Amino acid sequence: MFRLRSVVRGCGAYLPERVMTNSDLSQLVETSDEWIVQRTGIRARHIAAEDETTSLLAEKAARAALVDAGLTADDIDLVVCATSTPDYTFPATATQVQAALGMTHGAAFDLQAVCSGFVFALATADKFLTSGSHRRALVIGAETFSRLLDWNDRTTCVLFGDGAGAVVLEAEEGKGTLEDRGVLTTHLRSDGRHRSKLFVDGGPGSTRTVGHLRMEGREVFRHAVGMITDVVEDAFRTTGVTADDITWFVPHQANKRIIDASAQKLGIAPDKVVITVDRHGNTSAASIPLALAAARADGRIRQGDLVMLEAMGGGFTWASALIRW
Ligand code: ACO
Repeated sequence: MFRLRSVVRGCGAYLPERVMTNSDLSQLVETSDEWIVQRTGIRARHIAAEDETTSLLAEKAARAALVDAGLTADDIDLVVCATSTPDYTFPATATQVQAALGMTHGAAFDLQAVCSGFVFALATADKFLTSGSHRRALVIGAETFSRLLDWNDRTTCVLFGDGAGAVVLEAEEGKGTLEDRGVLTTHLRSDGRHRSKLFVDGGPGSTRTVGHLRMEGREVFRHAVGMITDVVEDAFRTTGVTADDITWFVPHQANKRIIDASAQKLGIAPDKVVITVDRHGNTSAASIPLALAAARADGRIRQGDLVMLEAMGGGFTWASALIRW
């Protein structure tokens, strides 16, 4: 049976030039490369320069994705940007990107689901494209988490980094089977009761300040693996796809231990897991599209591959998406 699918036409990434290593961090707070690597798998992260805004990172990733797709901004009619670190409270970062790309047509808006933001944005764009209302979407994850960190708090400042990634989706007719290219299923969840475990202690509607990221690391860890595996199993159940069928598992890159434990519980072989957390740290909504772009650039992800995405983050929010590339 004919149905529209959102097919990935291209992807792109941008990382700020400045790299901060664990040993650089040990000059700022009492920590060590050994502690950070053992607990998180992180060795380095990129940090945006003073004049690099989230929208600038997003624009660079979006341009790279357009080049990869062989398209121009004229071809795009929807821009969805997932971010928790917008340039301004408003307007949306997505409209800044739209303007920078020279687009005066179509619609652009931000979506905020913290570390799950990219999967939420992908699912949202997929609904627009498969409804027939829009034809081609730029889906971006872009963050400058370095600006939300308390650089005196060693329990959080060692975990995060800055960056942006983007994909171009295009509506295409499929047969309605699992052999179709495109987004095959998405599953989104949230539970606001967990706010205090991972949050920013400021905002325009409360403190009128930007605030800093606060986290109960152990509590986040305790919930993460269960939530991630639940939502990936939802995707397996809905499609009939199994862990063995997956070509690549591209998880949100928060912590190597969370990724390893999730893959193991799901029965996904370690050599199918795309890892960038070692060199990017946790870039929140940017981490999945950055990992996708890395695995595309080095030739791992190829057309026809079955790619499972998953994320979990503040809220809590958690989500999965299965794509045939
Ligand atoms: N360097 C050295 N020591 C540290 C550091 C640091 N950077 N941070 C904490 N410690 C110390 C603590 O003070 C504590 O010392 P104490 O025993 O003397 O009190 C000790 O290390 C152990 O602290 P814990 O918090 O219990 O360490 P844990 O093993 O739980 O690891 C971590 C902490 C890495 C944050 C872990 O809980 C974790 O990964 N949680 C998940 C958090 C996460 O990934 N959040 C990202 C956002 S959510 C998401 O994207 C899924």
